[in-house]
Amino acid sequence: MKRFNDLTDFSTQEIKSLLKLASRLEQKPEPRALEGKVLSLLFLSPSLRTLASFQAAMSKLGGSSFVISPDMSIHGLETRPGIVMDGEAAEHIREAVPVIASYGDAIGIRAFAERKNLEQDLADREFESLASLANVPLINMESAIQHPCQSLADWKTMDDLKIPSNGGRFVLSWAYHPKALPLAVPSSTVRMAAQRGMDVVVLRPPGFELPSKIMQDAKRLATENGGNVSETDNRHEAMEGANVIYAKSWSSTSHYGDRLGDQALRENLLDWCVDEPWFDNSREDCRFMHCLPVRRGVVVADRILDGPRSVVIQEANNRMKAQMAVLHRMLKG
Ligand code: CP
Repeated sequence: MKRFNDLTDFSTQEIKSLLKLASRLEQKPEPRALEGKVLSLLFLSPSLRTLASFQAAMSKLGGSSFVISPDMSIHGLETRPGIVMDGEAAEHIREAVPVIASYGDAIGIRAFAERKNLEQDLADREFESLASLANVPLINMESAIQHPCQSLADWKTMDDLKIPSNGGRFVLSWAYHPKALPLAVPSSTVRMAAQRGMDVVVLRPPGFELPSKIMQDAKRLATENGGNVSETDNRHEAMEGANVIYAKSWSSTSHYGDRLGDQALRENLLDWCVDEPWFDNSREDCRFMHCLPVRRGVVVADRILDGPRSVVIQEANNRMKAQMAVLHRMLKG
């Protein structure tokens, strides 16, 4: 494996094989599998889980890793192309990426969306430009439109919980958040659940439709894998018989890049906070999923996060286990 960028680059069989490897490494640890291997980690955006889980995954496999981020004691990092560097920044990303990559056997890069231009973010231009500077195997640790590590871990979490693929109902719900957030998690999540063959419903208020390109991809994946994808703003209809609700906030797509327009839409949507009444007509054992970090009392009520429906800690823990499989496949073969 040379590139782990988009989960849908892999066939359903290949994903299942990666998850089987994750289970094998859980049952039969291989603490020397990646001895002598180094993973370079470049974080141009903040993280808790991704940063910690990649470092832990490398350690558990006998390898090592190092982290570079602009918050550290490095020279000011310039990311804009074609700029005259007569300001604070002393180093350009065009040199920094190949240097960092050259110290390791693979590189992970995180760079969130600029959220100014939807087409540009859908094409993942900034990430692809960074990726083109590294000549070692690459892992996308979240870009404008992809979060494949999160999706692989979420797929594993549902397998662990024996949530059915074909026939299981998966609700991806928009939730309120004071800020306009990127599309990476919802766009990866809807396609992951579709590829898992689930009955996927995207529940969102008007103005927050997922981009048609993402929905079309999800519908194609669902068709190929015996699932279905639909979209609604009707909570009762969406939640009927649901096995899972996956909450996430994202930017308005009708007002993408328009901060005030987005703000005007979302300020009337404070009641999009997942709470027990949402589960009135779901399956009794309907689970609550979220990639974290999550704002308590804003995105979801405490009693859901602290109650038996929530599997958010398990999802976060599966980040490390799923990534161990990716690293093993990438660096050991
Ligand atoms: N879910 C996730 O990617 O978490 P971090 O942003 O903390 O890495």
